[in-house]
This record gives sequence, structure tokens and C-alpha cells, in this order.
Amino acid sequence: MNYSTIINKKKINIELNKEEVEWIVNSFVDGSLPDYQMSSFLMVIWFNGMTENELINFTNAMVNSGITYDLSDLKGPFADKHSTGGVGDKTSLIYGPLVAYFGVKVSKLSGRGLGQTGGTIDKLESCTGWTENISQEKFKEVLNKVGLSIMGQSDDVVPADKKIYLLRDVTGSVDSIPLIASSIMSKKLVIPADSIELDVKVGSGAFMKNIEDAQELAKVMIKIGKAHNRKVSVMITNMDKPLGKAIGNALEVKEAWDTLHGNGPDDLNELCITAASISLVSNHIFNDLETAKKEVTEVLKSGKAAHILKDFIEAQNGDFSKIIDYDKHFITKYKIEIRSENEGYLKFKSAESLGYLSMHLGAGRAKKEDKIDFSAGIYLTKTIGQFVKKDDLIMTLYTNIDNKNGFINLAKQLIIIDSKPSSQETIIKLID
Ligand code: URA
Repeated sequence: MNYSTIINKKKINIELNKEEVEWIVNSFVDGSLPDYQMSSFLMVIWFNGMTENELINFTNAMVNSGITYDLSDLKGPFADKHSTGGVGDKTSLIYGPLVAYFGVKVSKLSGRGLGQTGGTIDKLESCTGWTENISQEKFKEVLNKVGLSIMGQSDDVVPADKKIYLLRDVTGSVDSIPLIASSIMSKKLVIPADSIELDVKVGSGAFMKNIEDAQELAKVMIKIGKAHNRKVSVMITNMDKPLGKAIGNALEVKEAWDTLHGNGPDDLNELCITAASISLVSNHIFNDLETAKKEVTEVLKSGKAAHILKDFIEAQNGDFSKIIDYDKHFITKYKIEIRSENEGYLKFKSAESLGYLSMHLGAGRAKKEDKIDFSAGIYLTKTIGQFVKKDDLIMTLYTNIDNKNGFINLAKQLIIIDSKPSSQETIIKLID
């Protein structure tokens, strides 16, 4: 087997066989295939896509690059959920406790922020001490005790995705349907959950910019799931606006905590209630979505499931007191208020640009070695479609970086005041 034969075949769209696909993945993981050759392989996939066989073989090779989990000695059922990535998307932190509250264990492998999007692992690390790096035994212990455990990729668990994900982020090959599908599904297939729920985001803040691509990504991931006899459901959701009001790591954990006490913004409530209800119906806790939504809404409003977020973070060594006592622990050098200069209906230039602003404030990585500032980010006091008067507070920026005027200019450029309200739905489509 050699690289030039494989890349030359793929360049002219000749299907790669199982051995060739496995060779690429395994050689990259063991270090014998250098980054520059893998980068060019990823770019050829970006341009030419993958056939169904290639995609299934590529995903399987990623799963088999590490260990797979065995949950057979624990009492289920088990649910898993994954989002394709968005701005302000802290759904998993609310979905997890809600589903676990009803006795369905949420066992999940999550990722870090990519581009303008945030990542669950980065958010959880704002609770000092919380670790993604846990053994299979510890993962199962937390799952059994709390009903929710989240871990990250490691050298043992889907190492291929860990390495490929980092390379894609810096080589312009993130927004490729087969690469996103294999990355997400490889992380889902290592854990034998009874149901997998995928939140495919579409819009300016997502990797899929239009509904056709989002539906294609959903179709491809369902196909991979079917090949493994997994129950997969998909929600296609709007990422033309950020989800909720908080963008940034600790800010988002705090918003998740508030939401779990019944004080969340409407769009976040709707998404979390729907996502949790789908998983509860899939796992036969409720017979239909309407009943499930009613019960889940009641639990969300009552705050009864909130302790599960705290218990899970503490069980994985995180200091949750920092979130409870937020203002004492997450202090930034600059707290910049951005106010409206006009009167009318609020719009933002794009969710993507808010994601990048948050990244520049210190909440994300421009380069893979950048360190995240957990206290940095944006809090939106007003949301899209709301009427604002001159001087109304629209957003507050939190940062430790000395660029106050630059950030003010950047933020002001993102605000559009319109004469008509723009309505933006949260959930666009459910696919079973
Ligand atoms: N989330 C993932 O896990 N992988 C991707 O490629 C994109 C989003």
C-alpha cells in the first residue's frame, strides 16, 4: 500500500477500497503518514466527497483506532446526543440532566470548540479540575451514580478523530459533509447507546450554511447509524442566530444552570425540551412527544433536574462552586457595554460573526495551541427580533485583552437595527 496510489485514485474519483481507507487512517494515527499528506487527503475529500462504502469504511477505521466501550454490566437505557456545532450551543448541559432525571443514562463523548463554534469540553473545563480524561471504569462509575457522564477523545478513545479534527481545523477542511459525519458518528459508535440524537445546525453560525446541505449531512449520519443498527433521530435547528443569550465558556455553563432552574431563554428552553423529549420517547419512557414535552417542561421549570449537572461535574473533579458564585470567580479586566445607537428591531450581522467576536475576546482558539479564557465572552441582553430604543443595552463583552476600542467597533458593526422584526424559528425540522 502506498500514499501516492491512494491519493491519485481519489483525485480522479476512483473509489478507495476498505484496505486503502484503513491504511490512511491507521498510518496517520501511528505517525507514519505525515500531516502534510493527510492534509492533502482531507482536502481531496473536501472537493470530491466520499462514496457510501468509503464513508462507512472511514468511520469504522476511526472507531477501531481505539477502544470501544462496554456498558452491558450497567442498567440502561442509554441515550447519546451530539450537535454539529454552533454559537452559544450549551444544549448538552441541559439535555443531559433532563434525560437522566427520567432514568435514561446519558453517556456522551464530546469535542472542543472548532472555528467560531464552542465545544462542550471547553465549557466544562471552566469548572476548575473537571476532566474529560477519565478511564472507562470512572466513566461507568459516574454514569451509574449520577446518570450522566461526558468524556473527550483521548489516545485510547477514537484517537483518529482527535488527530484528524485538529488537522482539519487548521487546514480548511472542517465544513465537509463526509468528514463531519464520520467525525461525529465515530464518537457516537464507540459507546453502545440505545438512542443517538443528532442536532444538525444550519445557518451562518454553523458549518452547514443551507438547508439542503444540512439535510444531506443528516441523511449521511443516519446511514452510518443504520449500518451499525443504531437508532438515530435528527433535529435540524437554526444557527442563523446564537442559541440563548450567553456565548463563552463559563458564561454558558452559568446559563445552563439558570435554564435548569426554569430561568432560561425561550429558544434554549424549546430546543432542550424537544431534544430531551425525543430521547425519552426513543427509550420508551413516554409514548408520544407531546406527553414527553409536557413532563420535561415541568421538570425544567421546577429545577428538579439541576443537581444532576452539579453532581456530574463534581464527580469528574470539577469545582462547581465557581458557577454558583459566578461573579466572584469569573471577573474580567474589561466589562464593555454595547448600547443601541438607534430605535427599531434588532438583528445581528450573523451568528458566525458573534462567534468570532467571542473568540477574539478570548473565549475560543484562533490557533490550536491557544489557551482559552473561561471568563471571556458575550452576554446578549436583547435578542433578534426584539424592539430596542436608543441607548438600550444590547450586549456586554467580557475580556481580559487590552483592545477595548477595537472590540467596541467590532461589536457595533454586528448590530443591525431594522424597521421590521425578523422572526427566527429555533427548530426547523425533525427527522426520524
Ligand atoms: N463536531 C464534530 O464532532 N466533528 C465535526 O467535524 C464537526 C462538529
